[in-house]
Amino acid sequence: LAGDEVLVVSNREPYIHAQTATGLQVNRPASGLVTAVEPVMRACSGTWIAHGSGSGDRAAVDRNDRVKVPPARPSYTLRRVWLTKEEEQGFYYGFANEGLWPLCHIAHVRPVFRSTDWEKYVEVNQRFADAVVQEARTDDPVVLVQDYHFALLPRMVREALPKATIITFWHIPWPNPESFGICPWREEIIEGLLGSTILGFHTSYHCKNFLETVDRYLEARIEHDTSTISYGGKLTQVESYPISIAWPDADQAQPDIVTCRQQVRQELALPENHLLGLGVDRLDYTKGIIERFQAVERMLEQYPNLVGKFSLLQIAAPSRSSLDEYQNFEARVRNLAQRINKRFGSGVYAPILLRVEHHNAEQVNRLYRAADVCVVTSLHDGMNLVAKEFIAARDDERGVLVLSQFTGAARELHEALIVNPYHIEQSADALYRALTMPEIEQRERMRSMRSLVKDFNVYRWAGRMLLDAARLRQRERIMTK
Ligand code: G6P
Repeated sequence: LAGDEVLVVSNREPYIHAQTATGLQVNRPASGLVTAVEPVMRACSGTWIAHGSGSGDRAAVDRNDRVKVPPARPSYTLRRVWLTKEEEQGFYYGFANEGLWPLCHIAHVRPVFRSTDWEKYVEVNQRFADAVVQEARTDDPVVLVQDYHFALLPRMVREALPKATIITFWHIPWPNPESFGICPWREEIIEGLLGSTILGFHTSYHCKNFLETVDRYLEARIEHDTSTISYGGKLTQVESYPISIAWPDADQAQPDIVTCRQQVRQELALPENHLLGLGVDRLDYTKGIIERFQAVERMLEQYPNLVGKFSLLQIAAPSRSSLDEYQNFEARVRNLAQRINKRFGSGVYAPILLRVEHHNAEQVNRLYRAADVCVVTSLHDGMNLVAKEFIAARDDERGVLVLSQFTGAARELHEALIVNPYHIEQSADALYRALTMPEIEQRERMRSMRSLVKDFNVYRWAGRMLLDAARLRQRERIMTK
């Protein structure tokens, strides 16, 4: 694709400007999507179109709503699109996060579908599609569409730029046809996605669910051998591309592990040899935070010798907090932590250390390096990059990963301790096993997972998609000659 124009579209922007008393401050959001796509954009430059959501976003852009990023070393353009309060409510909070998010995660939170939200979802998809057309300098750009916020955009862009190569990546799971079928606009959503040249999911299981959903609700031709769908005279290739992270550069200095261990324990007022579990999530009901706390409680019941010696530090970045479901969830998480701390805590000791606040990448990296075990118990997750970040951070080959079987990551990281997060006893046992695992076994498991994540890094994820797209482009060029 050398020389081709690359445009990314996502709702969440990679850099958020905040207005503060001392001027403009730039923050990185907590988003797996951003973690993965940002390093790719740095490498291939181009333009990233996203919703300008920060209080200082307008102050940071030029007349055309563009700003060069990353701030320290600009290498690509961020084009911001402004949404009104009503648009944000209907498109982002409503249809995307009260409808599609629970629908696709099957996390036993009932999806809500309002026709007023749907109208905004359609409108905002069109506004972003218009921005793509506006930003495109050629008639055949490569457009990278990100996530469930933009199911309709591929088709809209295809209509305006028939020669564009549209690669859409769905960062969350795709459920089976029965589950997806409750969406009142299921046909429109699938038709929208079929405007893509390539449609990517994390796992082949999600691809299969998507193909079956198309089969059930549309008159399309599906070729199972090649995983392609022919609809309205256009071909869409459906493929799995497990997302990943940028492996840290060898020359990138890392804080000393022993110092991290000591400092983090000091900051938390814990004794030097205190056993530390770590959870890093957005405060979201799909992440299994309640089940994780219950597993800690169960473990302390079963192994009273760990009371006073183990704590779970849970980082929970506030997210979508104006939605009722998220507020209720936060209250439940706080109450449960309090109850468990009351039951097993004493003096300064608390088994659950809950921090509902945003932490930057550097702070999280120190915590990864300080922890004895990292616990990922999502009830359902497209991939889960926390698991991969933890592995990348452990160049000492120590530390254990406890990982939910319902994450995309569990399909790759077989050396983690895999659990069903709904099975509290099993998770409690895994946690105990992690905390008592001999060093040599930790090393073996960590080494093997590190070599996998290092090889299958995010550049490979993007590279495979772009290469597949380049092949399709080439084929089309030859066919239309
Ligand atoms: C998930 C979604 C992303 C989203 C992120 C953070 O990873 O797949 O699209 O950016 O959550 O959520 P937020 O709503 O804050 O952008």
